[in-house]
Amino acid sequence: MADTSYMARKSVADIVASAEGGEHHLSKSLGALSITAMGIGAIIGAGIFVLTGTAAAHYAGPSIILSFVLGGIACAFVGLCYSELAAMLPVCGSSYTYTYATLGELFAWIIGWDLILEYAMGAATVAVGWSGYIVSLLHNVGINIPPTMAAAPGTTVTLADGSTVAGVVNLPAIFIIALLTIMLVLGTKESARLNNIMVAIKLTVVLAFIVIGAFFVHPANWHPFIPQNTGQFGNFGASGILRGSAVVFFAFIGFDAVSTAAQEARKPQIDMPIGILGSLVICTVLYIAVAGVLTGLVPYAELNVPDPIAKGVDVIGVTWFSVLIKIGALTGLTTVILVLLYGQSRIFFTMSQDGLLPHLFARVHPRLQTPHLSQTMIGAIVAIVAAFTPIDVLGEMVSIGTLFAFILVCGAVIYLRRSDAGASRPFRAPGVPVIPILGILFCLLLMAGLPLVTWVRLFVWLVIGLIIYGSYGRNHSRLRHPERAPD
Ligand code: ALA
Repeated sequence: MADTSYMARKSVADIVASAEGGEHHLSKSLGALSITAMGIGAIIGAGIFVLTGTAAAHYAGPSIILSFVLGGIACAFVGLCYSELAAMLPVCGSSYTYTYATLGELFAWIIGWDLILEYAMGAATVAVGWSGYIVSLLHNVGINIPPTMAAAPGTTVTLADGSTVAGVVNLPAIFIIALLTIMLVLGTKESARLNNIMVAIKLTVVLAFIVIGAFFVHPANWHPFIPQNTGQFGNFGASGILRGSAVVFFAFIGFDAVSTAAQEARKPQIDMPIGILGSLVICTVLYIAVAGVLTGLVPYAELNVPDPIAKGVDVIGVTWFSVLIKIGALTGLTTVILVLLYGQSRIFFTMSQDGLLPHLFARVHPRLQTPHLSQTMIGAIVAIVAAFTPIDVLGEMVSIGTLFAFILVCGAVIYLRRSDAGASRPFRAPGVPVIPILGILFCLLLMAGLPLVTWVRLFVWLVIGLIIYGSYGRNHSRLRHPERAPD
């Protein structure tokens, strides 16, 4: 008999079986290397290329290096938990699926709704960053895009004569989202191949910055390493390191996107832990090195610019390298948007198969084997959001939504170790429950670093989600109404 309560939860065995059978199939085309590249593709982006400078200038100074260490530790705990669950439940719903198996349907819906903040809004945020870099690069080659056409209403843009006006629409952001959506509709394998190439370019540029930049560092710029607190929480000193972590946490978002590809991995039990932990370790090491070199090249107070890494290169004094860095940043931002758009469609795919979203989100194109309708709709909405919303509001929403999801994932590991003690765990997170508890505490610590208004926005977003669940998902859930055929 069907469990019709809101706490109805899926069994681990059912989830594993549905990944192997089911009426819709995604192709199993991704190996460990593609998956690790996908992780790096999703991780290195606006966080390191844009936010590092702001965080160093406003909050932490050279100790932004420690902010990255703190963020990396928090994500390591969470990454171990994700690895256990992604190997155990190789379906493409990410933390949505894990919550369905633990806290039940209502919480699963909440987390699925919350993940829109991380994936769709994350893609919109990074597209706005992409827009900034392309405008700057085009300017270098003599093409000037009218500033009002590359900024959302509500953002102030400075014109050539020094006067300021409000933005109208962010056209470059629409362009990049449309382009990547078309690619994703055309095929996962092709997108993954292009992603691998772009990740290689991005890594080369980041490594070149670290290696070449290291020769030009002025150690005097690292003193004082932890600038004295100004008397206000978060402005330098120890609290500045914490506030810096909350801001640069955005740079780590994306390692979990790997878990949305589980159903398309050839050997998810092995490929998932390698992809998640491998990409996280590589990116953390690179971030710490970039932060060290950058704050060694430029006095931290001067880093509050939209392209801090390019500013670092200016100190080296090689013009072509500055252009190369911008191209690398653009490539990096492109892969982040690509993976986030991809991940969003796969989460909707799983939610739709569960009946919590309309059937069209699980429809797969017969030849292309991609969820073409869902991907197109997501692209259209993300493009509209990116075109008309200021980046700062988006960015903080992405961070709080992601941290909230991470907390539930850590909780799911503890819960499933008890409820499904006998289930097969190809990868076991060490030190349970200590590691997941530390993951939860670190995420809470970073959430505490975000402003109150962001908490309020998260609450409002979740209430809207509950209304939609009450009017649609509750009545169409396959788990609660197994007798009903899909739409
Ligand atoms: N981690 C991704 C970025 O930094 C979201 O852009």
